[in-house]
Amino acid sequence: MTAAGLSARRGGPLKGVVRAPGDKSISHRALILGALANGVTEIEGLLEGDDVLRTAAAMRAFGAAVEQLGPGRWRVTGQGGFSEPADVVDCGNAGTGVRLIMGAAAGFDLAAAFTGDVSLRGRPMNRVLKPLGEMGASWVCRAGGRLPLMLKGGGLRGLHYRLPEPSAQVKSAVLLAGLNAAGETVVIEPEATRDHTERMLRAFGARVEVTDAAGDGRTIRLAPGQKLTGADIMVPGDPSSAAFPIVAALITPGSEVTVGGVLLNPLRTGLFATLTEMGADLRYANLREAGGEPVGDVTARFSPLKGVDVPPERAPSMIDEYPILAVAAAFAEGPTRMRGIGELRVKESDRIALMAAGLAACGVAVEEEPAGLIVMGAQRANHPVAGGGKVTTHGDHRIAMSHLVLGLAAEGAVSVDEPGMIATSFPGFMDLMRGLGGDIG
Ligand code: S3P
Repeated sequence: MTAAGLSARRGGPLKGVVRAPGDKSISHRALILGALANGVTEIEGLLEGDDVLRTAAAMRAFGAAVEQLGPGRWRVTGQGGFSEPADVVDCGNAGTGVRLIMGAAAGFDLAAAFTGDVSLRGRPMNRVLKPLGEMGASWVCRAGGRLPLMLKGGGLRGLHYRLPEPSAQVKSAVLLAGLNAAGETVVIEPEATRDHTERMLRAFGARVEVTDAAGDGRTIRLAPGQKLTGADIMVPGDPSSAAFPIVAALITPGSEVTVGGVLLNPLRTGLFATLTEMGADLRYANLREAGGEPVGDVTARFSPLKGVDVPPERAPSMIDEYPILAVAAAFAEGPTRMRGIGELRVKESDRIALMAAGLAACGVAVEEEPAGLIVMGAQRANHPVAGGGKVTTHGDHRIAMSHLVLGLAAEGAVSVDEPGMIATSFPGFMDLMRGLGGDIG
């Protein structure tokens, strides 16, 4: 790694068996529910990335005892509620962290100030503040619902809320606030989003009723006055992180990589379904349940890929995976059309714009749409792309990892700026990729 960044170059095949780091979504939730609960929660496999460590620090600030017992092993002792933090809560780069914690905090009679890094301070919080306001919380924030903000909680009413955009963060914030509201809280999601909050609330002893209206999304009901009790949580491997070595294997000739213990919750596996439609040789073994979630080992072998149209309704189940899908698409024969992905413009960066720019800098023909990205693809499957780009990531971990994966199979080395941000979600990325034979440095 140089001061200017980090580069990836084409080398031999990628081979090996690895484990993905703990799932980020589940890691945040385990800490937050542990802090809200009465008693001890022990967590195995927690992601020790910066985003999650910020949530751990925040839970201490709200009054829980949070200790690391060993690598990935954490104990949270909750007081059955939050107390007022003595200082500003800094959630770093983590949208999930700040939005879920604001929801949980809104249920208590306290004032709490929240901030984050330059990316998080630019992201919209209105989507969470609006329903929390309807429940009775109040706040002062910067223009456009931006951080820093000061939230005042307590005295909440239950709410019936139909999500205007498919967002598990908003759903989760409302449900966590609803734990301490008077009256029932109901969230209706027209498109199903990841359901880790619902599953984990049950593991902590809450009654959560979910009804699925075929074709018309889900309704989640939470009765008032429920108490959470500490629970033991096993965090499975993050499919959003497993996606990087898996796609690297698919596009690098001669490769075979197995990622063990990957979360295979159907609300998170849209990328694997899409890659399979593209012709990817993906095999699943050891399918089992761990910590109330479906888990398995995923093996990817180098495969000739073809372009596909990704159904827009699949977006919530692969929302964080479009950057790495765009890389797979660059090596596929024919165009891949990704539409209905306007949400990507308000992630850690504007991911549509940055993928379009990064791929173009690597010689890949792309078309950007307001809520879509079309990658033209190669003339024949697995024809190496030119590469050679110097990619601006705006501090976005997934933009950085996606372009490094592209560099492993491109003709010219690809470099990214701000590689340190990779540690927000995947601190072992470089070691893992090098261990498989990837030339990154
Ligand atoms: C997450 C939900 C998604 C996803 C994020 C994690 C979660 O965000 O992009 O990385 O853990 O609930 P949205 O709720 O904004 O879609």
